[in-house]
Order: sequence, then C-alpha cells, then structure tokens
Amino acid sequence: MITLNTDSARKFTEKNEVDEALELSGKSFKQLQDGSGPGAEWRGWRDILASPNDALLEKIDKSAAKIRKDADVLIVCGIGGSYLGARAVIDALKSEFSQEGPEVIYAGHQISGRYLENLINHLNTPREDGRPKSVYMNVISKSGSTTEPAIAFRILRRWMHNMYGDKASDRIICTTGETGGALNKVIDAYGYEKFIIPDDVGGRFSVLTPVGLLPVAVAGIDIRSLYYGAVEAYNSLEKAPEQLLEYTAVRYALYKKGYCIDALASMESPLNSFGNWIQQLYGESEGKGGHGLFPVVLNYTTDLHSLGQMMQQGQRNVMESFITVKEPLSKISVDTEEEDFDGLNYLQGKTLHEINKQAYLGTHQAHENGGVPIFTIELERLSPEAVGQLIYTLELATAVFVYNLGQNPFDQPGVEDYKKAMFKLLGKP
Ligand code: PA5
Repeated sequence: MITLNTDSARKFTEKNEVDEALELSGKSFKQLQDGSGPGAEWRGWRDILASPNDALLEKIDKSAAKIRKDADVLIVCGIGGSYLGARAVIDALKSEFSQEGPEVIYAGHQISGRYLENLINHLNTPREDGRPKSVYMNVISKSGSTTEPAIAFRILRRWMHNMYGDKASDRIICTTGETGGALNKVIDAYGYEKFIIPDDVGGRFSVLTPVGLLPVAVAGIDIRSLYYGAVEAYNSLEKAPEQLLEYTAVRYALYKKGYCIDALASMESPLNSFGNWIQQLYGESEGKGGHGLFPVVLNYTTDLHSLGQMMQQGQRNVMESFITVKEPLSKISVDTEEEDFDGLNYLQGKTLHEINKQAYLGTHQAHENGGVPIFTIELERLSPEAVGQLIYTLELATAVFVYNLGQNPFDQPGVEDYKKAMFKLLGKP
C-alpha cells in the first residue's frame, strides 16, 4: 500500500491545528461517502472501483491487442484529464527507450502548429525497412468539443483518410461521453469504434476508465493489475482512512497557516509525468473560490540546479511532497577505476539507487532545515499494482482536501474564461 508520511510536515504545525483539521477531514470523507458534498453526482471514479467491470477490461485489452499487433504508432489525441493519466502511467512503467510495441505519441494537448507539422513529418517518414508506418489514433474527449484535440483530430483525421482511404475508420478509436458533443457527430458520420466515458466521472478522475486504460494497454502495461491495485486501495481506504485523513489534515493545517505552494517532487525521471498528472488533479480541483495550493512539479535532482535555490532560501510559503519508491528501480552502479582522475572513487561500487537515496535524504534534511514542511508519498515498488494504488489514493486525498476547502472538487468553471476570450478573438459563431 501507499505510505503517506507527515512526520516532517507536522513539525510546522501545532497539535490543536492538526486536531481541528483532522475533524474536518473526517467530515469531508463522510460527505464524499454519503454524497452530501458538492458535486456528488461526479463520484463515479469511486463506483467503478466498488464494482469492477471485468468485461470492459477485456474489451479494452482486445482492442489494444489488435493495435499492438498492427501499429507502429499510436497517436493519443486529448488534453488535460484526457491524456495526462495515460501519459503518467506509461512513462512510469515503460522504458523511455523501449522499441517494444507501438510508439505512443501525443497530440491535441496544445495548439503548436510546429509540433503538429513535425508529428506529421514523423508519420510520413518510412520505417527502417522502407515500409510506411502503420498509424492508429485514439482521440479522447469527454465533452467531445474541446478545441485543442478537435483541431488536431481534424488535421490528423485528414492525414489518416488520405493515407488509408476507407480503411482509416478501422484505425481510429474514439473515447467520449455516451451522447452529445461534436465528436459523437463525427463518430456517427464515419463509423469509428467508440469507448464511453461514464457521465459521472470527470476528466482528471478518469484514468481508470477507457480514457487511460486503452492507451496504457496499447503500451503493453497490464491494465488488470493497475485497475485492481486501485480497487485494493479503495477497499482498504474505505475501512482504514486514518493515514490519508492525517495527510489531508496536516496539508490543510499548513495551508491555513499561509503555505500556498505545494512542490511535487520526485527523484526518478520515470515519475516526472506522474507529477504533471498530480499537478492537474490537485490544481484544477482545488483552485476555485480564491482557494487552493498552487501545485508545481519538480524533477530532482535536475531541478535542484534550477529551483533548488528557491526551495532552500526563497519565500517560506512552500510545502514539498516527495513521491518516492522503496524498491530499487535499477542495479546500475559506479565503476571502479584505479586512477581517481574524476574524484569519484568514494562512490565506486555504489548503485545509483543508493546515491539517489542519499540525494533524497540530503535534500529532505536541507529543505526541512530551511523551513519547508515535507510530505513523503511512498510506493513499495514501481509496478502496475502500486501505480493503481497511488492513483486512487491521490484522487481520494484530492476530494477530501477540496471538501475541507468547502469547494466542489469535480468542476472547473474557471477554465471557461480563457475559452470565451479566445473564441471571441477567433470569431467563433
Ligand atoms: O479534468 C478535466 O475535466 C479537464 O481537465 C478535462 O479533462 C480537459 O479539459 C479535457 O476535456 P475533454 O475531455 O472534454 O476534452
């Protein structure tokens, strides 16, 4: 199971502050369970774990197996909650340099024309054996009307139809709401295969629906283990939520004291994208009504050489949340050399895991001494089960924390404002 360690963070709070926040977190959890909190109609992310749908997992696996067999490239076209979860899981569990299975590339997560042009050039570049690449696309949009993926889909759909003619329809899989949205109209017109996103599951809580599961399965990751890891976390946290409530309570007590930034740090680059998923989960859920901690992703030790100074000696309004993995992710070690020209002989024979662990402990010590309250969120190992556990644990922590703030964790009304301004400038009818 996931360990949520609050020992360091607690040092920056008083006992009565945490006790009060604990009581509040307990009430928030109850609200979530009994459906008396705001946005109760969007608690489907819990229901899908309370009653797992094995038939759906099988359907997703079947579709993924066909793509894996046929495709050189899978384009995942979506933005926000419609792609960050899949990317987080794939980057955490698949080697950065793996040649096994289709290459997964992302589109529709921004509007850079240069990126899309380069992507199309990449699709047009033949494989090493001279044959054209075999391309599949999974377009994902719950509303079916989000501008960024809609534009990329229109352009890439044209490319696919030019390339494959009528057969393009067999290579395009859409994941969207059951009804409504422009994407459903396109699906009806072209007959693309469709996976449904349940109405009661919001985008950033949807990684364990076909939204995340199809791309993850295409990447060759065992989605049953991922899913049932989350089911296990759901069942255990329903019975024993104490540690999670303590985490949300201490985080809330610090927030009330003026800590307004949560630096989400990890020491392992495979977890970098996971930081982006958490950033969206926390940020889009919390940031409303003038509330919320600003989540920022730090990839260590890389960012110790950019934001490390700010963490150590900047304004003291930052807390830090480390995501760590207990079991070593590799065995690679520093070579032994007779001469010590590079001065590294003091490390010879040590694994990079050991060195990175000391880097983590040293950073933890320095930042805490510098006035940064620290949480540690630890996975036993980097496996599909543990990643599934982490997903649900953090989803639950988000909902409880946002109820502590008295807000609706599941909507994002503020996102509409940039869209309205942009549409006006673009002259959208
Ligand atoms: O969490 C959310 O609901 C959002 O981030 C959405 O996922 C994002 O805006 C994309 O929306 P859609 O899936 O409707 O295209």
